Order: sequence, then C-alpha cells, then structure tokens
Amino acid sequence: MEPTAISAYPERVTVLGLGYVGCVTAACLARLGHKVTGVDPDEFKVKSVLAGEAPFFEPGLGELVRNEIGAGRLSASTNLAKALPESDIVLICVGTPSNRNGDLGLEQLRRVVEEIAGLISGRPRPLIIAVRSTVYPGTCEQVIIPAFASCPEVTVVSNPEFLREGTAVHDFMNPSLLVVGGADAQAVRRVAALYAGLPVEPCLVSLRTAELIKYASNAFHAVKIAFANEIGTLAAHLDIDGNEVMDTLCRDTVLNISPAYLKPGFAFGGSCLPKDLRTLVYRASRLDLKLPLLESVLPSNGRHLERALETVLELPARRIGVFGLAFKESTDDLRESPVVTLLEQLIGKGRNVRVFDPQILPERIYGSNRRYLLAAIPHIGKLFDPSLEELLEWADHLVIAQKQAPPFAQLMAASGLPVTNLVSAIPVRQPVAETATRA
Ligand SMILES: NC(=O)c1ccc[n+]([C@@H]2O[C@H](COP(=O)([O-])OP(=O)(O)OC[C@H]3O[C@@H](n4cnc5c(N)ncnc54)[C@H](O)[C@@H]3O)[C@@H](O)[C@H]2O)c1
Repeated sequence: MEPTAISAYPERVTVLGLGYVGCVTAACLARLGHKVTGVDPDEFKVKSVLAGEAPFFEPGLGELVRNEIGAGRLSASTNLAKALPESDIVLICVGTPSNRNGDLGLEQLRRVVEEIAGLISGRPRPLIIAVRSTVYPGTCEQVIIPAFASCPEVTVVSNPEFLREGTAVHDFMNPSLLVVGGADAQAVRRVAALYAGLPVEPCLVSLRTAELIKYASNAFHAVKIAFANEIGTLAAHLDIDGNEVMDTLCRDTVLNISPAYLKPGFAFGGSCLPKDLRTLVYRASRLDLKLPLLESVLPSNGRHLERALETVLELPARRIGVFGLAFKESTDDLRESPVVTLLEQLIGKGRNVRVFDPQILPERIYGSNRRYLLAAIPHIGKLFDPSLEELLEWADHLVIAQKQAPPFAQLMAASGLPVTNLVSAIPVRQPVAETATRA
C-alpha cells in the first residue's frame, strides 16, 4: 500500500548500518519525505546506494533506492563525522549477532555508540538516538545511555524493527506493529512521527518494554511455526491433512487466533487442557513421534505453579486467605485445578490457610469433583469460609487465585489486606539485574 501522507515535518536522519534493516529503513524513510543519510563502514554497500542500487537482493529495494537517490532525499557515506552534525535523529541498525553461548553480540553496538559519543561533544542542539537493532531488555539503559552520561543533549529511545526479509519494503510501508519506547515522551513522539505517513497506530511504551516486545514477538512466531509443524507431523502420521486441521483451527478467531489466553497469569488447569495434552503427547509417543514443544507444555505449566507456590511460601503471613479454588472463575469444576495443588502444598508445608470460592460450597461438591478434592485435601471442609467477608476478617494476607467479580474486588480493596495476585500479574520477588553489561 502507498503511504497515505508525508510526515508532518521532514526530519534529518542518519541511519547507522546499511544491512537488511538499515538500508530498507533509510530508503523507506526517504520515501516518506525525510532527508536520510545511511552510514556504513562497508564501502561496497555505500557505493551501491550512491549508485542507486540495493547492496543486496530485496524485492522493490533497488527501485526505491534509485528513486530516493535521484530525488536527493537519500545519501550514503562511510563517514559518520560528516553525517552526524546534519542529523537530529540517529537510527542504530547495526548487527547484534548470536555469540557462541547464545547471548547477543553487542560488539557492533558498543563500537557505534563509542563513535557517536566521540563526535558529539559541544553539539549545539539535541540528538535523539533510536535503537532499531534487536537488543535484550536493559541494553539501552546499560550500554547506550551511560555512554552519553555527560551529553544532556542526547536522548535514547528504543524503536524495534519488525520487517521480514523478502517482503521488507512492503512490511516497512505496511507495518504490522510500530513500537517506540523511552522515558522522554517528546523524543518518543518525535521518533513515532517519523512514520506518520504509514497506516499504523504507534504503541508508545517504556524503554525496556519496547526491547522485550521484539523478543516476545519473534519467540511467538517461532512457537507458532513449531506448533503448526508438530500438529502437521502428527496429522501426517494419522493420515489426516494437517493443512486442513490448521486452516480450520485458524477459522476460530475468538479463542484460537485472538488475544484469548495471551495474558501472563496463573497456571492453567481444569478438566480439559491437561487431560487432552497428555493424550496427544502419549498417543504421539506410541507412534514413536517426538513432539518437544507439545511435550514441554505441561512441565512448563507445572513450573509456573511451583513459582506461584514459592512466592506464597515466602510471604510474611501467618494466616493466608485464598480467593478462588476452581481452575477459573464462574465454575465449580475442581478437576486439575492448580489452586487445589497450591493449597495441598501450602498445607503440607504447615501454612495456615483458608479459602473462599464464590461458586463452591463444600457440602454441595459431589461426584468426580468431590473425589478429586478429597484425595488432594481430605479436610478441605474445615478450610472453607462461607463468605468473603469472613475470609477477609480472618486472614492477614490475601492470595488471589481467580479473577474476581467487581463486588468481591471492592470488598478486598476495602479490607486493606496485603494482596498477592496470582491471576493478573506475575509476582516478581526481586528485580532482575540483567546481563547486558556482561555481554
Ligand atoms: N534482518 C532482519 O530481517 C531483521 C528484522 C528485524 C530486526 N533485525 C535486527 O536488526 C539488526 C540489524 O540486522 P541486519 O539483518 O540489518 O544486519 P546486517 O548484518 O545485515 O547489517 C548490519 C550492518 O551494520 C553495519 N555496521 C556495523 N558496524 C557499524 C558501525 N560502527 N557504523 C555503521 N554501520 C555499522 C555492518 O557493516 C552491516 O552492514 C539486528 O539487531 C537484527 O537482529 C533484523
């Protein structure tokens, strides 16, 4: 799609790195009306761009570079010292390849940051540095910002790139996502405005959020591919058309291809997901099929439950009130509820616990529900509070293990009790000091 409008005010931009991301970014920003210089120590890439050619194969890029060089909006150089004084925004697009140990290589990034820092002392006006390279959360704060500690005119933002090679120009002009993160709202908005002509609503977030979104997106894409491949492999072994299975699965845009189930929260449970995953994995193993992604899901869920347990065990609480016992709200189904396991463990470790669930009265539980519950917690009846008010009265700490309807949430808030919410946020025991500086 053609961009609908040119950015409100053309910016003067230096793009550092003329690789797949940098060259496409430079040419496309020029197409949007900005004055762009691409800088790269690689003479071949610079000469190609100056000659109006793409330095590598990417559909549509050659024509774009030729047009923008011809229009005078795009230039290229090996000399950052010449380009930098004429720019207000620098986009860092250097490589961050994998090290042998799997960590990201920050060598190119460190070098380019040193180069910029060495060139800006005495700069008369502000400079925004936007990082488009993929960097692990904390890298901007730990590697880039300290290099400009004595340069108050420099602001650093994160602006990750989501284009795909092979459709990079199309992806840039029709972004699936536009993310800009940083502490300086003005700088964030100014970088977002670079893309003002594109059909996308920018997401303005914090610096570290922007950095992590890129990794989360790529991990999600990889998980989707691996999932489709494992289902396709199983389907093939069962003489079923895997494409038909996945195409049909994708027709469900309410539960399957949607934000459903995509929020961090508590472990899953219930009468279906654990049982059906076990069947799938067991039956695949009988076909001598290894499906490592699907096999890892229940262990991952179990580990998540253990983390919740560790968090609750560490609470400085003498009387722990738990809200919710069923595996989710609005049901009394207790089969494979992770809360039952949580309670079992807490009781086993000598914690003083009581529980309230709006849908569960112990005397009304029967059948498989009752058997499941009594097998896990024989004296469960004594732990139940008939009302939330009584639970709140008794407890000195509240653990929320189920989404709450507004009246319950209001009662909890009014109680003033300290709360550990396992459902809507992952409790972090201590901030993680990350490793970027050690890379
Ligand atoms: N390739 C993709 O599809 C893609 C998509 C999204 C994000 N990314 C991320 O974007 C970043 C760049 O990826 P790429 O594929 O374009 O890498 P690339 O290796 O193709 O290009 C990096 C360029 O940076 C140049 N460079 C190195 N040091 C420099 C310096 N000091 N000054 C100026 N230029 C310098 C290199 O010469 C090279 O041309 C990486 O972090 C990558 O993970 C890549």
